[in-house]
Amino acid sequence: MINNYSTNMNLSYQEEFDTNHKLETILVIDDSPTNLEILHDVLGGAGYEVLVEMDGVSGIEQVENNPPDLILLDVMMPKMDGFETCRKLQENPSTKDIPIIFITAITEAEEKVKGLNLGAVDYITKPFEQQEVLARINLHLKLRKLNLELDKQKQELEIRVKQRTFELSHALEELKKTQLQLVQTEKISSLGQLVAGVAHEVNNPIGFISTNLYYANQYIEDLIKLVNLFQQNCSNPGIEVEEQIEEMDWDHIKNDLPKLMSSMKLGTDTIKGIMQSLRNFSRSDGEKKKFVDIHEGIEATLMILQHRLKAYPKRPAIQVVKDYSILPQVQCFPGQLNQVFMNLLANAIDILEESIYCEDSAHNNIMIKNPEIRIATTIDRHQVTVKIADNGKGMSESVQNEIFQPFFTTKPEGRGTGLGLSISHQIITENHGGNLQCISSPGKGTEFLIQIPL
Ligand SMILES: Nc1ncnc2c1ncn2[C@@H]1O[C@H](COP(=O)(O)OP(=O)(O)OP(=O)(O)O)[C@@H](O)[C@H]1O
Ligand SMILES: [Mg+2]
Repeated sequence: MINNYSTNMNLSYQEEFDTNHKLETILVIDDSPTNLEILHDVLGGAGYEVLVEMDGVSGIEQVENNPPDLILLDVMMPKMDGFETCRKLQENPSTKDIPIIFITAITEAEEKVKGLNLGAVDYITKPFEQQEVLARINLHLKLRKLNLELDKQKQELEIRVKQRTFELSHALEELKKTQLQLVQTEKISSLGQLVAGVAHEVNNPIGFISTNLYYANQYIEDLIKLVNLFQQNCSNPGIEVEEQIEEMDWDHIKNDLPKLMSSMKLGTDTIKGIMQSLRNFSRSDGEKKKFVDIHEGIEATLMILQHRLKAYPKRPAIQVVKDYSILPQVQCFPGQLNQVFMNLLANAIDILEESIYCEDSAHNNIMIKNPEIRIATTIDRHQVTVKIADNGKGMSESVQNEIFQPFFTTKPEGRGTGLGLSISHQIITENHGGNLQCISSPGKGTEFLIQIPL
């Protein structure tokens, strides 16, 4: 193992050494054997690897097969002259970056300009001055190395900029989502506080009325008894009393007053129930979970949604069918769970309203005559399960794959934020360690399963 590792180390070190000290290759294209010989000796002696070609056509071939680090190119050549060769090399993206130095006679100034315009980096004049040739070649090889390095850095920079931009836009997107979720949660919690405040304020006077009703009822019963006794024992109370009895319709009052009192009692009891439900619903959760009756939360939510379940001219009432098991108190964040019940039930009502006229899986138009929401609770050794099902139009697989994504909604703009299910999913899975599942298919309704571990 260690040996292998050290061999690899040596190898990669060797490779690195080779690349750093690879001989730089210079291709000389010139039709004069004398020139070729001189340049071969000078460059070879300076430590370069030298390739030679005697015309433009084979020169280009050589460049393509075995790209050199620099090209020395004669101008006057048979078959294809230096300018044409240079133009061809410049046209080809894979060879255009190899620096070309023209070899030209000292008198031909026009040619030098032409060569430079064609993309050559420099020129050297015949007869050669050895030191000058080497100095120019050295300079251009260095420039080329720097250029290559620069290109590499530019590419790396571009990749990094792209990566950063992607990361930043992703982070921004996340931030926007979190912000909206926070706003939503904040709205719900301040609504909860308002509701709790109102419930608290109404609670005192209603308690006062309901307690006094109890005594008022007793006093009234006593008074009726007393009047009855008077009537029995005083058969002739006088004309004034008899007229009054007649005028106020005492017989009717005697019968109606107890009924009136009991309906007032019923009214106050109902208000007390509603207030209790509101308080249950808007329970603010502290840091710690509490043991609560889950059915209470479901009932409170149904009570708040009562007005949406009633019949409307356009649709029949939505029936709520309950199948509750006997459940122990469950440790949870009750306010958050109520929020989940609210989201699931409101979605079910929305879809039932939308589905009164809809298509079944075979694209037949059908009408749902008895819109229904079924709520069932069950318990086993590990968990409590709440099922909330509707007989609405259900959803396609592609919709089902998206429903827990924040901001996914099929509702018209302004009607749905698309946050209900994503927040519910987060509450059940992250805050309660449970599961929220959806089972649905087009025309077959939808069932949501909430599982909370015990
Ligand atoms: N019971 C259901 N039956 C059919 N589709 C449903 C049901 N519940 C949810 N959906 C689909 O899931 C989508 C997302 O629901 P979600 O509650 O997250 O957002 P929303 O209801 O559109 O908006 P809001 O933020 O107001 O709740 C809905 O737009 C709807 O297409
Ligand atoms: Mg919703």
